[in-house]
Amino acid sequence: MLKFTFLLAVAVGVNCQLESSIVPTTPPYSTGSPPPTTRPPRQVITVTNGETEGQWGPLERCPKGARVVSYQTQNELATPRFDDTALNTILLFCNDEFVTNFTSTAGFSGDFRGIQTCAFGGYMTSFQLRVSPAGTEADNTAANDIRFKCSGGDEINGLGNTGGDWGDYSEVCDNGICGMETRVQPYEGGIGHPDNTALNDVRFTCC
Ligand SMILES: *[C@@H]1O[C@H](CO)[C@@H](O)[C@H](O)[C@H]1NC(C)=O
Repeated sequence: MLKFTFLLAVAVGVNCQLESSIVPTTPPYSTGSPPPTTRPPRQVITVTNGETEGQWGPLERCPKGARVVSYQTQNELATPRFDDTALNTILLFCNDEFVTNFTSTAGFSGDFRGIQTCAFGGYMTSFQLRVSPAGTEADNTAANDIRFKCSGGDEINGLGNTGGDWGDYSEVCDNGICGMETRVQPYEGGIGHPDNTALNDVRFTCC
């Protein structure tokens, strides 16, 4: 009986040892959710074919609770004999009661094209940029046009310039686009400045 108890104690002891030797190498069963005060950083969607002249403009956003549902571009469409700048400005419209609009940095030239709006009460979720890469032509234009996909699956097309090529679509903002930053080369003058390009790149903040 004494012998049995001893063996039992040894067995239990070994068992405990085995368990305790496992615990430190095993991650906790639950890593736990982050404290309620820390929010994940806002997702920003980008494309890889933007150009690099100019500085990033200010992040501008829809009012709280609103999303971007329409847009309009300003383009130099009637190509001048030299120094075409193509896409200059992107104007976004939110679905708040005041239909707030914003541009981040605006360009300096061209005509405003028709407003494009997502169908069926949808909102914009991803985008694609049409670009003439720097150095491919004597007269660089950088970004030429932009188009978006909407939450309902439809695509709203730019009415901009047709030079260059569409790049890949950005990632998707599941809850829609709420903010924008544009990268615009500021006007550096006509004669004497070889090549203005206006809008070079754009990125959007998810809601
Ligand atoms: C954009 O908003 C401003 C007010 O902030 C307004 O004056 C202007 O008309 C709006 N633009 C368009 C195209 O609706």
